[in-house]
Amino acid sequence: MVSVENFEKVKWMLDPEITYLNHGSFGARPVEVFEAQVAFKREFERSPIQFLDREGKERVSVARRTISRFLDCSDEQLGFVENATTGIGCVLQSLSLSKGSEIVSTSHVYNGVRQLLRSYVEKNSCTYREIDIPTPIATNDEIVSRILDGFSSQTTLLVIDHVASVTGIVFPVAKIISACRERGVAVLVDGAHAPGMLDLSINALSPDWYVGNLHKWVCGPPGAGFLWVNSQYLNSTHPMTVSHFYEQGFTNEFDWQGTRDITSILGAAIAVEWGSTIGWQKIRSHNHRIATEMQKRLVDLWGVVSMSPLDGSMIGAMASVQLPAHYRFDEQELSAFQARMYHCSRVEVPLMLWQGTPVVRLSGQLYSKSDDIDLFLAALNG
Ligand SMILES: Cc1ncc(COP(=O)(O)O)c(C=O)c1O
Repeated sequence: MVSVENFEKVKWMLDPEITYLNHGSFGARPVEVFEAQVAFKREFERSPIQFLDREGKERVSVARRTISRFLDCSDEQLGFVENATTGIGCVLQSLSLSKGSEIVSTSHVYNGVRQLLRSYVEKNSCTYREIDIPTPIATNDEIVSRILDGFSSQTTLLVIDHVASVTGIVFPVAKIISACRERGVAVLVDGAHAPGMLDLSINALSPDWYVGNLHKWVCGPPGAGFLWVNSQYLNSTHPMTVSHFYEQGFTNEFDWQGTRDITSILGAAIAVEWGSTIGWQKIRSHNHRIATEMQKRLVDLWGVVSMSPLDGSMIGAMASVQLPAHYRFDEQELSAFQARMYHCSRVEVPLMLWQGTPVVRLSGQLYSKSDDIDLFLAALNG
């Protein structure tokens, strides 16, 4: 495992007694980012009207400029939402698909998003289908051709993960978006994990919609999600909760969805600056190296088939590895086993089912230590 000595100065809120291998779920906060949010909360509590009513809009606009520069997109097209799920909900409720339209995703779709799509089509006389992309996957072209071959004449919208939750595989979204454009299929990218994990330029991708989280790999406060919309949808995309500024401009509408805690947005901009001080490229490549090394170590040790190439070319900072065959668990048993590893060994790592097989998903982050994987193995066998 690579040396983490350069990053030791970064202090995290995490309990140092926990071997934390699950950055992917809810991220984790550097002390600096957490304290900045707490300071914003204190300011709000000292003078709520001044903070939120008179200064809130300008404070959020400044944060939006920082965040949009980081995501490489126009700030006028960036709306803040609580989380990626809500961003997808906003897109769906703003769509006007004709009867019989088909929405497609892939077998890698995040389960919460799957249920959201199911509930949308039930109410809107449309259909939803998932294109199977089995693992192991060896090339990006394989993914692109499976997706394109999976379209039907009714396919209107593709909802595609940028980084898949269970498998950790990075989808070649640039190629997918341009192929969909040629076919007249709209694309909603679910980038819940991408900001901070990948070198992201939303302008370069230019899908129809892009949703993401800043509380995962950007290490911002929980509740910092965003929705970016292509300019053609600026007037037709609305937040789930419509309030005072309906039809008064995209960012005006998204900035006021009723009273909310804007400190998560302000804290997300602080997190962007925190990462810039270290260097986002350095953070990304460190985390990628850790994930790739952990993946190779387990695949070699267990002699299992790797879900993606062992050179790390199809993953970011998360790697999922199939557990050896004697771990035969259903979903409930997996979550009980995961909780047991936490309670007995203080190892936090997600165990999930992928295509009926138990997998472990390992996240690399600046706080990862060289013996984390040994502690995980001891907990698994303990
Ligand atoms: C690919 C993907 N999409 C969506 C989500 C949902 O994110 P949130 O709970 O922040 O809405 C997740 C959560 O991990 C995810 O991995």
